[in-house]
Amino acid sequence: MAEQATFYERIGGQTAVTTLAHQFYDVMQRDSIARDVLEMHPDDLTRSRKRLANYLCEWFGGPKLFGQPYVNPDWLKRRHQHLSIGVDARDQWMHCMTTAMRELNYDLQLQQDLTKVFFELAGFMRTRV
Ligand code: HEM
Repeated sequence: MAEQATFYERIGGQTAVTTLAHQFYDVMQRDSIARDVLEMHPDDLTRSRKRLANYLCEWFGGPKLFGQPYVNPDWLKRRHQHLSIGVDARDQWMHCMTTAMRELNYDLQLQQDLTKVFFELAGFMRTRV
């Protein structure tokens, strides 16, 4: 049986994954609905963009740019522990990601599949109700 394509392959490789991370932060900077999440970030998003791109590459089955063994949900949660993340922040984060995928014209099946895994991980990042 043929192996299932990874998200990394389905998105279109490293350049496409990097584009997604940039579009995500472009939406966050543009859409006032994501104001609270934007305010949690540093003014200069250069590092955040790069870290997210590298994380996504590795998490989705591409090159290990982020550095093992750190791409796991528990580690990521610890990196968010100092933030106040409730359902509002989770939904703002999801708004940025789902909007980014839509604006990049991902096919609907890919949008649905990615939304599911992003939503699970974003929910896990919550530090309060
Ligand atoms: C659910 C709501 C979330 C909020 C409010 C949030 C917010 C933040 C903030 C403020 C930072 C610090 C940025 C910086 O200092 O440059 C950060 C870092 C990061 N976030 Fe999130 N995040 C959320 C969910 C997620 C999810 C679901 C992922 C992965 C898909 C993710 C991936 C990352 C990565 C990789 C970093 C860099 C970690 C590091 O190097 O320390 N975040 N996040």
